[in-house]
Amino acid sequence: MTKNIQIAIDGPAAAGKSTIAKQTAELLGYTYVDTGAMYRAITYKAIQLNIDLQDGEKLTNLLKETSIELKPSPNGQLVYLDTIEVTDEIRSPQVTASVSAVAAHANLREEMVKRQIEMGKNGNIVMDGRDIGTHVLTKAELKIFMSASVEERAKRRFLENQKRGIDTSLEELMDDIARRDKLDSEREASPLIQAEDAIFIDTTSLTIKEVSEKIMQLAKERMS
Ligand code: CDP
Ligand code: CDP
Repeated sequence: MTKNIQIAIDGPAAAGKSTIAKQTAELLGYTYVDTGAMYRAITYKAIQLNIDLQDGEKLTNLLKETSIELKPSPNGQLVYLDTIEVTDEIRSPQVTASVSAVAAHANLREEMVKRQIEMGKNGNIVMDGRDIGTHVLTKAELKIFMSASVEERAKRRFLENQKRGIDTSLEELMDDIARRDKLDSEREASPLIQAEDAIFIDTTSLTIKEVSEKIMQLAKERMS
């Protein structure tokens, strides 16, 4: 008999978390939750409303009256903000540049984590982010911390943006990734850090297939 488990995948930007998390969830028939999309959605709304991104109290109150839903579709996970689909809008360079400042507010994180714990409470879940193993699915049977060199991660984002028709240079992406790594790792509220019981995977020279196979093997071990 197989056990129903929680899988937490953390790591810095463009390490391959969402690609692998999505694939693993599909293969196991689990629900996939991209927590970065939730932070991006509230950032997008705050920008639209011209709210000061340094004002943690205002942002937290805004979040409390905001619905963020993640729905699977054949074309990937769709993101709904107050019932309006914003899947592409939340990936804009403007949101990307601002999201780490929003995500640094402790009270806002508390509200997000509460929602994410609720989403994961019945297991059968693969969740990716920055603090999943340390603050959200703290008892997850499988915790992965994935990373890759900044150069490789910028290159991956560059190719991805090209496909999406977003015009950014490799240098800009390298700067953004390095800046977000620093903000996410140095913030006081649940910083990006490897959980003690997480398995580290360096994906710099691994293909998506190789990483996916490694994680599926670990998941099957934990499920049996
Ligand atoms: O896809 P990418 O790696 O560029 O970022 P993301 O996963 O969409 O996350 C965007 C930002 O949200 C991160 O840089 C963090 O500042 C924040 N985030 C967080 O603080 N905690 C999470 N669990 C997920 C994302
Ligand atoms: O979620 P995260 O920001 O960690 O990364 P991602 O969005 O899953 O991956 C960023 C890009 O890198 C995607 O276009 C993936 O197809 C690609 N990728 C890769 O080329 N090799 C890997 N081992 C993992 C991801």
